[in-house]
Amino acid sequence: MSRRLFVTTALPYANGSFHIGHIMEYIQADTWVRFQRMQGHAVHFVCADDAHGAPIMLKAEAEGIAPQALVARIAAERPRYLEGFHISFDHWHSTDSPENVELSQDIYRRLQAAGLVYTRAVEQFYDPVKGMFLADRYIKGECPNCGAPDQYGDACENCSSVYAPTDLKNPYSTLSGATPVLKSSEHFFFRLSDPKCVAFLRTWTRGERLQPEVANKAREWLEGTGDRALGDWDISRDAPYFGIPIPDAPGKYFYVWLDAPIGYLAALKNYFDTGKARARGETRAFAEFLSAPDTEQVHFIGKDIIYFHTLFWPAMLKFAGSPYRVPDNVYVHGFITVSGEKMSKSRGTGISPLRYLELGLDAEWLRYYIAAKLNANVEDVDFNPDDFVARVNADLVGKYVNIAARTAGFVVKRFDGRLRAAGAGLAPFQAARERIAQLYEGREFGKALREVMLLADAANQYVDARRPWDLAKDPARAADLHEVCSEALNMFRLLTIYLKPVLPQLAADVESFLGVPALGWHDAGTLLPAGHAINPYRHLMTRVDPKQVQALFETEAAPPAAPAPQKHAEHQERAAAKAAPAPQAATISIDDFAKLDLRVATIVAADTVEGADKLVRLTVDLGGATRTLFAGIKSAYDPAQLAGRQVVVVANLAPRKMRFGTSEGMILAASGDGPGIFLVAPDSGAEPGMRVK
Ligand code: MSP
Ligand code: ZN
Repeated sequence: MSRRLFVTTALPYANGSFHIGHIMEYIQADTWVRFQRMQGHAVHFVCADDAHGAPIMLKAEAEGIAPQALVARIAAERPRYLEGFHISFDHWHSTDSPENVELSQDIYRRLQAAGLVYTRAVEQFYDPVKGMFLADRYIKGECPNCGAPDQYGDACENCSSVYAPTDLKNPYSTLSGATPVLKSSEHFFFRLSDPKCVAFLRTWTRGERLQPEVANKAREWLEGTGDRALGDWDISRDAPYFGIPIPDAPGKYFYVWLDAPIGYLAALKNYFDTGKARARGETRAFAEFLSAPDTEQVHFIGKDIIYFHTLFWPAMLKFAGSPYRVPDNVYVHGFITVSGEKMSKSRGTGISPLRYLELGLDAEWLRYYIAAKLNANVEDVDFNPDDFVARVNADLVGKYVNIAARTAGFVVKRFDGRLRAAGAGLAPFQAARERIAQLYEGREFGKALREVMLLADAANQYVDARRPWDLAKDPARAADLHEVCSEALNMFRLLTIYLKPVLPQLAADVESFLGVPALGWHDAGTLLPAGHAINPYRHLMTRVDPKQVQALFETEAAPPAAPAPQKHAEHQERAAAKAAPAPQAATISIDDFAKLDLRVATIVAADTVEGADKLVRLTVDLGGATRTLFAGIKSAYDPAQLAGRQVVVVANLAPRKMRFGTSEGMILAASGDGPGIFLVAPDSGAEPGMRVK
């Protein structure tokens, strides 16, 4: 039976760019989602920016811009990463949205009606200059134990003693330097300790829905006693705060962690309300879909946010009642480390995902490497540069792609591109289908890929044993040659099916090489029929050059000194535009450059694309011939203003099948880390079709 899945990844904070940890999470979830889609299941895969909270408010303030502008700037750069790493979200939204206000306030009112919300005065440090209450991370002072200066409000970095911010000697606000004063304020609490909550969570954390180590952690928190007893949850913050107002409580906002997970539902609601779900064949409305017994709600998250997702989130949903429903699964992954080193949340790691793409490293190398290291446990995954090069080159190029590279040429040259009927040698390859499916289903990607590589070894051994290159020398053995190549290419096709959740682009290239429609999992039940025609083999994947990987780790030039704070947004934007340019990509030869066929083109028509917020569909004239292509420029250009403009097109880029049609080229545009996309245009007098060189 076909499943209906509502899948999310954690909503990334909107005060910074993606780091490799985010990309790892998306690769894990995307692989699982693509596997489910290949099974024929309906998947709605959504995410959103986590926009609210004090850090974002303060960062925007420091830049002299509104928090909404900061969030919009970060949101604008998301697609480059997501498309770059082939992450197939159906929708991306924001927690700073009308849907989230509506749903958060609704859930809050229902919890209140269920008797699970109460208020109590809380005494807390307050910055009299800034006029705001201070979270612990904004207070520093001298350690009450050893006297070390400039220690945070929770623990001393010098002597490791742990204390409360009120224990600090000579405390000061890191925001203004002022001495904080203790001030009392009314806070709203969610009664997590209520017996009915605890009883519910005891049941919810049992069974299959959580990984055993996650369930244990959750139960440890649940059953804590004394100091460790499960406390109620402070869900309010005082103005000034960038968040959602608490109904009937002037000056009070929901703490960001209340509205953040509700953002999963807000993203889903917006996806339904804008007709995107319908375009995917889901006819029910949002609430109906959400509450349906056959809908599965699955969250992928990292190990640092288990508490929120296994205690507060299910409890909130449970006691808010229908149409809200508790998650079916919360799947937790460990952290990515780089050469064994933990990355810092603020500085990221040695690997910048954007630099990875800019250096021309293949996104699918990283997808494969990460997937090959993932399992169903909460274990950290290490990115090791040497291991990366060895693994990708040995497995993908040396084993998998090699099968086609060694056999396709004979079929095209000697047999008019047509295959013979394949035989019994394929049985073990087809028999692996169910086993590999179970491994993908259980997020044992490393094991799944090991199975695939064992099959690839078997395919190569088969080719080695039958020696097609020798058979080709003897005209009398043409039938044998035909058989070997047909068998091997059928093996290759089956392996492609099994690798497709991890390597969607490579699989698409193989589909066009083999001349077959998009492969689904059930296709492993069939073979290519006798007489099936393949296309000439073209190179499917290059080897990783260790130099490229080395370039990824070269320390970048020190960033220029931060510009002095500017009062006006426009100054700030100009300052941002001058920020450190992206590092230079690896050197290429003039021959490499000559491979690019760049042409002047005139935009004949430009339209929006139903269901794609970022894309514009362009019809361009290349001097006689017209082409259709898709460009992610909608955030910067109004399609109505584009017709008649001249642009530069990469004319010999392989056509790329997208959800909305085929893109037959790419237009050139400039962009930096900040907002803005700038089309490249020739000087006046250039004619469509002229070559740019
Ligand atoms: N905004 C919250 C999540 C709200 S969900 C309702 C948040 N954001 S985050 O940007 O800090 O992290 C987003 C996701 O990235 C989390 O699942 C987190 O665990 C994951 N990762 C952050 N660093 C990571 C690694 N080094 N490795 C793998 N995942 C990491 O938390
Ligand atoms: Zn100390």
